[in-house]
Amino acid sequence: MAEAQERLDTSVPHPARRYNYWLGGKDNFAADRESGDAVVALFPSIRTAALENRRFLRRAVELLAGELGIRQFLDIGTGLPTADNTHEVAQRVAPESSVVYVDNDPLVMVHARALLNAAPGAGPTHYLEADVRSPEDILREAAKRLDFSRPIGLMLIAVLHFIADEEDPWGIVRRLTEALPAGSYLVLSHSTGEFLTPEAVQTFRTSAIPVHLRTHDEIGRLFDGLEVLDPGVVSISNWRAEKEPGPRPDESETATDCAVARIR
Ligand SMILES: C[S@@+](CC[C@H](N)C(=O)[O-])C[C@H]1O[C@@H](n2cnc3c(N)ncnc32)[C@H](O)[C@@H]1O
Repeated sequence: MAEAQERLDTSVPHPARRYNYWLGGKDNFAADRESGDAVVALFPSIRTAALENRRFLRRAVELLAGELGIRQFLDIGTGLPTADNTHEVAQRVAPESSVVYVDNDPLVMVHARALLNAAPGAGPTHYLEADVRSPEDILREAAKRLDFSRPIGLMLIAVLHFIADEEDPWGIVRRLTEALPAGSYLVLSHSTGEFLTPEAVQTFRTSAIPVHLRTHDEIGRLFDGLEVLDPGVVSISNWRAEKEPGPRPDESETATDCAVARIR
C-alpha cells in the first residue's frame, strides 16, 4: 500500500477521483475537481449521468445474482468505493458471491483494500491493479481467485470510453468474453456522444482525461456475438428502470448506453 501511495500523483486528474467528485464523494483533489467542472460546463447533467450509471450497476448486479444465479463477478474499472459496491449488491442477494475488483488507479486500490471488504461469513473480495488494455494479464490473475469452470459476471461499467479506437475496445471485450465459460454474462455501460455537438465530442477526446464518446452503433458492436438480454442496448435511463422512483431522466441527460448480454 505504501508503494501505491508513492505512485499517486494528485496534480493530474484521474477518472476515478473525478467520478467520485461528481458522485459527491470526498476522495478527490483540486485537479480532479477542476477537470470535473470543465465537464459540467460542456455537459451540465454529468452528475445525473454518474448517479444513474450507479443505479444501472445495482439493477444489473441484482439481476445477475438473483434471477440469473451468478455467484462470481469480475469488475474491471471498479472506481472508488461508494454506495452499493458490486459485492454489497451481489451479497445482499447471495452472500456467498465473490468479486475480483480490477482498476488501474493506485488510489482506487488503496481505498478498495481498506473499504471493499466483504462482511464476515460472506464470499471473498479480491483486488487487482491492472489495465483493461491487458486482458490476458487480468484473466490470468483472476483465474487464481475465480472458478473459470463456472459462470462469471464480467462488468465493464463506464470504463471502455477511456480506451481509444486504436486500442481496440471491441477486441478487448472479445478477448475477455471468449475466455469466460458459456452461461457467463457481460454487463457494460459506455458514454455516448449522440447528444453532444461534434465539437464537444472532440473536446472530450483531447481533454486532460481523454474520453472517447461513441455512437449508439459503435457501442452496440461491443456486444457482437453475444446474446443481448431485453431491452437490448439502450440508455441507462431506460434499462429495466420501471421500479426506480420518478421522474426518470431523459436519455439525453445521461448520455450513456448499456446492456447485459449472455456469453454463449
Ligand atoms: C467512471 S469510473 C466507473 C466506476 C464504476 N465502474 C462505475 O461505473 O461506477 C471509471 C473507472 O475505470 C478506471 N479505469 C480507467 N481506465 C482504465 C484502464 N485502462 N484499466 C483499468 N481501469 C481503468 C478508473 O480508474 C475508474 O475507477
